[in-house]
Amino acid sequence: MKSVEIITGDITRLPCQAIVNAANNRLLGGGGVDGAIHRAAGPQLLEECRTLGGCPTGECRVTKAYRLPCQLVFHTVGPVWHGGGAGEAELLAACYRNCLEEAARRSVTSIAFPGISTGVYGFPKDLAARIAMREIRAFLQRPSSVEKVLVVCYPAENERYYRGL
Ligand code: AR6
Repeated sequence: MKSVEIITGDITRLPCQAIVNAANNRLLGGGGVDGAIHRAAGPQLLEECRTLGGCPTGECRVTKAYRLPCQLVFHTVGPVWHGGGAGEAELLAACYRNCLEEAARRSVTSIAFPGISTGVYGFPKDLAARIAMREIRAFLQRPSSVEKVLVVCYPAENERYYRGL
């Protein structure tokens, strides 16, 4: 039975197979969840990221997870919110879709997402939650290896954007 679960906590502690990082185009680390993931994974993650040559907004790149309890890290780059008229919604949807499709290509069964773009990048949290749930549900309706998708709310109060969706 496939499932999407809304949970609260620190994504770096989750023992699921893959976690998603909300990175930037350079893929060389940063603040927020990106900083937390790099700190928890250790310096080898940055070394591998340096070999990737960055990542365009809406796409993803995959690395090993080093000291993290998961096995793979999917680095995706969400859009910076500029008011909504610059294709932000479509780019955010592409982040979720591309991560899920790449997870399926790699036979991943469980993957955890943070609220991509909803921190430093300023994407409205309610709209971001609707886009995330729409894309995850649409993906889970099609056959693939992915059995479980976790949506990680951090801090816990962000959970309210998912209630009732
Ligand atoms: N676990 C889960 N979620 C977290 C964690 C954590 N440990 N830490 C923060 N969040 P942000 P963005 C949540 O700013 O908006 C970085 O500098 C946070 O509360 O990390 O996509 C990158 O390098 C928020 O809900 O990512 C980029 O330059 C969500 O994760 C830029 O920030 C995303 O917030 C990307 O900005």
